[in-house]
Amino acid sequence: MKEEKKGEPVARKQKMTDAHKKKKKPRRGLVAWIKSLFHRVQISRNIGIDLGTATVLVYVQGKGIVLQEPSVVAIDTNTDRILKVGIEAQQMLGRTPGNIAAVRPLRDGVISQYEVTLKMIQYFIRRACGSMFIPPRVMICIPSGITEVEEKAVLDAAREAGAQKTYLIEEPVAAAIGAGLNIYAPIGNMVVDIGGGTTDVAVLSLGGVVVSRSTKIAGDKFDEAIIRYVRRKYNVLIGERTAEAVKKQIGAVYDHPEPGRVEVKGRCIRQGLPKVVTISSKEMIEALAEPVTAILDAVCWVIENTPPELLGDILHNGIVMTGGGSLLYGFDKLITRVTGIKTRVAKDAVSCVAIGTGKSLDNLELLHEGAINISRDKRSRM
Ligand SMILES: Nc1ncnc2c1ncn2[C@@H]1O[C@H](COP(=O)(O)OP(=O)(O)OP(=O)(O)O)[C@@H](O)[C@H]1O
Ligand SMILES: [Mg+2]
Repeated sequence: MKEEKKGEPVARKQKMTDAHKKKKKPRRGLVAWIKSLFHRVQISRNIGIDLGTATVLVYVQGKGIVLQEPSVVAIDTNTDRILKVGIEAQQMLGRTPGNIAAVRPLRDGVISQYEVTLKMIQYFIRRACGSMFIPPRVMICIPSGITEVEEKAVLDAAREAGAQKTYLIEEPVAAAIGAGLNIYAPIGNMVVDIGGGTTDVAVLSLGGVVVSRSTKIAGDKFDEAIIRYVRRKYNVLIGERTAEAVKKQIGAVYDHPEPGRVEVKGRCIRQGLPKVVTISSKEMIEALAEPVTAILDAVCWVIENTPPELLGDILHNGIVMTGGGSLLYGFDKLITRVTGIKTRVAKDAVSCVAIGTGKSLDNLELLHEGAINISRDKRSRM
């Protein structure tokens, strides 16, 4: 029996003519190889972009986050040529000669300089994908309060930058996915994403946004508040980059057990000469009070407008914070104190949105290309 079984395939093989071998074997291998190559190429061409006001992060499906750069572009104002993008352009901010402008083309979470944003997206897609032989399918993250006109600008910019198809995802949805929340379950989850230009507060359930509020008060406004505070209290003028550095070093919205101090260099308003002042993290609480109160108002508004069943879930699960602004010392503690709901800052708070945008690339087949605003219930949005 054994011999017969072994012998059968041998006999069949022997029956095959040389012509058969030539035709069938290599073709099957070739087809499989082309299929796997196409599959690999196709997968690597799905990319997710967190088009942030402060930072752009690009996620390539199958690879993860491949680049993270400040949303800054340096342009030659005589020729309109892009000179630098990202970190190198950021270093030029406030330090450029007359013929060079270092600009942030996104303000308050939306495109304020269309052409520059377009070139920036183009640059990042090229860097992430290499050759544009097969145009990528792109998922872009947008703030939940974006208007249809702003949404169209994002779609147009992505298309002109070479995207084959463009899909949009709301920032709090991406943030929640990136923070590891199961937003598809019939359970309420609440996210507070504090970025550079916008703060998005949302309650999610069954994969969608139930209640949300998007406000243009976030990291940039914190920097402006610090500039105003130093000017008012010390008569010293400091720049945006200095204010941001102070915020990152000693920024706090809650009493710190070990308060820090930092020296700040600026220009004395009265004498016009350089002056150094020392600021403490305790002073930061005072300096940031106004924008922080506005964010707390948005959080309370969302809670007040959340259906009671979902609110019960949130009381149980807590609030999750994402975005760079959530790293200000004590923001989670402050929200807990004001709302009575336990709050935590997500792991990898700055990358959560990009990770969530990237993960949602796995469901591209189920999504519709283009605008998502049309299907939104705007009554519960700001
Ligand atoms: N350690 C830190 N402490 C305080 N603020 C921080 C810290 N690190 C980053 N930030 C601030 O976080 C903001 C950037 O956060 P993030 O990258 O989430 O914004 P973004 O996604 O680019 O903006 P948006 O979502 O509003 O378009 C900046 O204002 C930055 O100064
Ligand atoms: Mg963001």
